[in-house]
Amino acid sequence: MAVSPPKFDDAFRAQLAALFAWRRDVRRFRADPVDPALVAALLEQACLSPSVGNSQPWRFVLVEDAARRAAVTDNFRRANADALADYAGDRAVNYASLKLAGLVEAPVHLAVFADTETGRGHGLGRRTMPEMLAYSAVGAVQTLWLAARAAGLGVGWVSILDPAEVHAALDVPAGWKLVAYLCLGWPVEEHDDPELERADWQARGGLADFLVRR
Ligand SMILES: Cc1cc2nc3c(=O)[nH]c(=O)nc-3n(C[C@H](O)[C@H](O)[C@H](O)COP(=O)(O)O)c2cc1C
Repeated sequence: MAVSPPKFDDAFRAQLAALFAWRRDVRRFRADPVDPALVAALLEQACLSPSVGNSQPWRFVLVEDAARRAAVTDNFRRANADALADYAGDRAVNYASLKLAGLVEAPVHLAVFADTETGRGHGLGRRTMPEMLAYSAVGAVQTLWLAARAAGLGVGWVSILDPAEVHAALDVPAGWKLVAYLCLGWPVEEHDDPELERADWQARGGLADFLVRR
């Protein structure tokens, strides 16, 4: 069915630029709950993301069970302690001072997996690059992240985890590969610069740092 596309005007583009600039990785959450209908709406929007062969390999797990959430939080604490042990000197002192997850405070825990055994998409586009399934799930995370921010909701991505332990704690199918473990909730504060930059861990570069021409 032919439908007219929306007209994206300058005002919309300015708002979109502000969304990109004000999206943050959030680790400091207020305790108030998030309406499950809002979470569902965000996940619906994430399902509009691009995917290899239109396979939609993302699988979302809302982690609501207290024991499973505690297992993931313990997993993070151990992985974070191991990571700290890899640093020395001032870098170790800086690392130890960072807040790298909001697992205890966040009202919503969401694990995102890629189903590596999905028949959807019939293999198109992933014969030579099977990792495209995981990349598609990453795209869904980005959509969710931006949609959440547009709703005023913070998202924090936690990767300091043993993925096999997360897999076991959540009891998901063997062919599901962990792509992201996300915390969602209302942010305590708003910033237009990354927390890791403010904490003197790593400043952002500019395009000149990342662009080459051949
Ligand atoms: C794949 C991925 C994994 C990440 N894992 C963590 C993490 O484990 N802990 C953390 O504090 N931030 C994590 N982050 C957030 C980054 O630290 C953050 O995106 C970066 O510092 C830039 O900040 P901004 O997202 O607020 O712009 C992760 C981000 C991505 C994209």
